[in-house]
Amino acid sequence: MTKILTIVSGKGGVGKTTTTINLAMALNSYGKSVAIVDANLTTPNIGIYLGVHSVPVSIHDVLQNKNKLLDAMYQHPSGVKVIPGDIGFSSLDEINLEALDDALLDLEGVMDYVLIDGAAGLGEEAAKAISVCDGVIVVTNPEMPAVTDALKAVNLVGELRKPVTGVVINRFKRDGLDMEVNEIEKILEFPVVGAVEEDSKIRESMVKRNAVFEIHPKTEASRNYKRLAARLLDVEYNDRNEKVADLMEIFKKLFKDIKDYGKK
Ligand SMILES: Nc1ncnc2c1ncn2[C@@H]1O[C@H](COP(=O)(O)OP(=O)(O)O)[C@@H](O)[C@H]1O
Ligand SMILES: [Mg+2]
Repeated sequence: MTKILTIVSGKGGVGKTTTTINLAMALNSYGKSVAIVDANLTTPNIGIYLGVHSVPVSIHDVLQNKNKLLDAMYQHPSGVKVIPGDIGFSSLDEINLEALDDALLDLEGVMDYVLIDGAAGLGEEAAKAISVCDGVIVVTNPEMPAVTDALKAVNLVGELRKPVTGVVINRFKRDGLDMEVNEIEKILEFPVVGAVEEDSKIRESMVKRNAVFEIHPKTEASRNYKRLAARLLDVEYNDRNEKVADLMEIFKKLFKDIKDYGKK
């Protein structure tokens, strides 16, 4: 069965798109088929983040009833499928938000997971993205303004009678100024299921038009995404096993280099 998760925040710029992309790749690394849908229709940027821009068919065409959703689906080298928006699109008046429900039926039974990158704020775009999902992931920064807005998002999810799968804290810094996990859980009344630290490699990846999980899989932020995916899949994530596997890889490469050198 296909599980649709919508990523929302309340406050803009806290890391919804970053979470959507990297969580998709982390789920994919566990063998799950995953599609990302850009439902940030006014300001879509999944395509920009993943280098899938200037596509012939986008989600906007689908919501104008010009194409089927599968026509707007592109394959990222990671294996994750991407349904981007048209960055040149200007007005919501030109599309039919309601068409999203039927469009998503194309992915039913085709994908294990569909991750929907929601719009900032709590307007009709965000509400639509929430209304079509099976669970919501609320992203926040560990700061009071972001958590206050996340609470508004949680309330909207409740009004739409959808379940909150969990909260993801993004950009924690360990500088003594972050809000505590239990403080955030107390305010939002939902469990924190993942936490991703501030990592400059995330911005570097964005500049390189790819996900940190893809180009820096060993960085701590990528491990944070893998932990989050493991939690959602209810499988064990073992930090030591991951590190032992990394060491094995390093040794394998070293032996291969030595062997190749010997042949010269
Ligand atoms: N954990 C992080 N560490 C460093 N930079 C981050 C992190 N998460 C997101 N960013 C950066 O913050 C900016 C906003 O992130 P984005 O995912 O676009 O937020 P949103 O989709 O909520 O608007 C981007 O420049 C992104 O690269
Ligand atoms: Mg975004």
